Amino acid sequence: MKIAKVSKCDGGFNLECKDIAPDKSISHRCAMFSLLSNKPSRIKNFLRAEDTLSSLNIAKLLGANVEDNKDIIVITPPQKLQEPFDILDCGNAGTGMRLYCGLLSGVDGSFVLTGDKYLRSRPMARVTKPLKDIGAKIDGRENGNRAPLHIRGGMLKPFKYESPIDSAQVKSALILAALNANDKSYYRENELSRDHTERMLKGMGAEIKNVTIDNKEYIEITPLKKPLEPLNISVPADPSSGFFFAVAAAIIDNAKVIIKDVTLNPTRVEAYKILKQMGAKVEFILKEDKYEPIGDILVENSGKLKGVEVSKNIAWLIDELPALSIAMAVANGVSRVKNAKELRVKESDRISSVINGLKSCGVECKEFEDGYEIIGGTIKSATINSYGDHRVAMSFAIAGLLNGMEIEDISCIDTSFPNFFDILKEITKVKVEDTIS
Ligand code: S3P
Repeated sequence: MKIAKVSKCDGGFNLECKDIAPDKSISHRCAMFSLLSNKPSRIKNFLRAEDTLSSLNIAKLLGANVEDNKDIIVITPPQKLQEPFDILDCGNAGTGMRLYCGLLSGVDGSFVLTGDKYLRSRPMARVTKPLKDIGAKIDGRENGNRAPLHIRGGMLKPFKYESPIDSAQVKSALILAALNANDKSYYRENELSRDHTERMLKGMGAEIKNVTIDNKEYIEITPLKKPLEPLNISVPADPSSGFFFAVAAAIIDNAKVIIKDVTLNPTRVEAYKILKQMGAKVEFILKEDKYEPIGDILVENSGKLKGVEVSKNIAWLIDELPALSIAMAVANGVSRVKNAKELRVKESDRISSVINGLKSCGVECKEFEDGYEIIGGTIKSATINSYGDHRVAMSFAIAGLLNGMEIEDISCIDTSFPNFFDILKEITKVKVEDTIS
């Protein structure tokens, strides 16, 4: 097992982050959506991490040709998606599995989607159930709730669906299925979840728009009449990955970080706004706007942070909550997270993983079914179990800047941010060891 020993950071730093991992959500979508065109897509700055390389590999198994020119990858789709001669392995990626489920449900052929032991434990009925309701033939353990999943793709019916959860993965799976249905479909969620799918597909020429029916907002999806235009995109840096270093700056005296060329999509930067509300200096600098608004984010320590309550727009900061909890643990006063039950079904049960970790560090906190409460104080050095969850591992590595930390089972970091420790080493000492276990 790989273990990281992070040393206490000696003092303030001024970090320019030019190498934050490219956005994971957008990279997954680049691999998949290029299959919806009939011309080559050109992707600059594709995330070369385990999760997104799994999606790219699946695109190859479905017949795409991938030319890797280091800086740019060119994905040439097949004329017609082919039935793969092997299982489609999504690794650790919920996004990979759920979006491919939607995409393949409407494609002729037999497909088996599987993943690692963590992904095979995560709930899939949130996509397989509505997909089966529109005619998809999907089976798997627990009647299609757990992978491996077998899909026999075919004709799909249009739908009008109100999702009980605000999830971009569910929304995207249903939008992808709707592109293959035989009439217009309508999708509704209560609070907007990240909207990369809508932005990118519209940019490729898909007819997707917001409409109001009976005073309620829906997304209207028109089935594809012809292949989409190819993607020509440079993937921005991932604000969720950059956020670990934003928290580092917020908790270390005299520290400052600038995260360069990151997506400033409002559905992705809410956690930075919460950090600002807690007292850190945060500035967004918009530089361009093609598929997404892109720019730099500046975060600077301003002395003491104060506790905060987070209960709204949870989908906009769901991935950043583990790292935000580290800021909450050193803030003045009580912080609370509510309405965040979704944390329980991420790469690990993130409510338990974070609270167990904080308790090991001597932080006073308690968990609820849909969130937790943290009493700010100090974070002591401890040995932390990552539970195989990349965001838990990276959050506690950042916490280690205060008094040192040992984090067990860190290989999961390669799923989203392979150069995380290279950047962390610019501000402190890190020793990575391999133990036999
Ligand atoms: C993602 C959506 C989110 C997020 C995940 C990536 C995406 O999941 O947690 O890391 O790329 O669509 P949900 O939409 O299920 O909340």
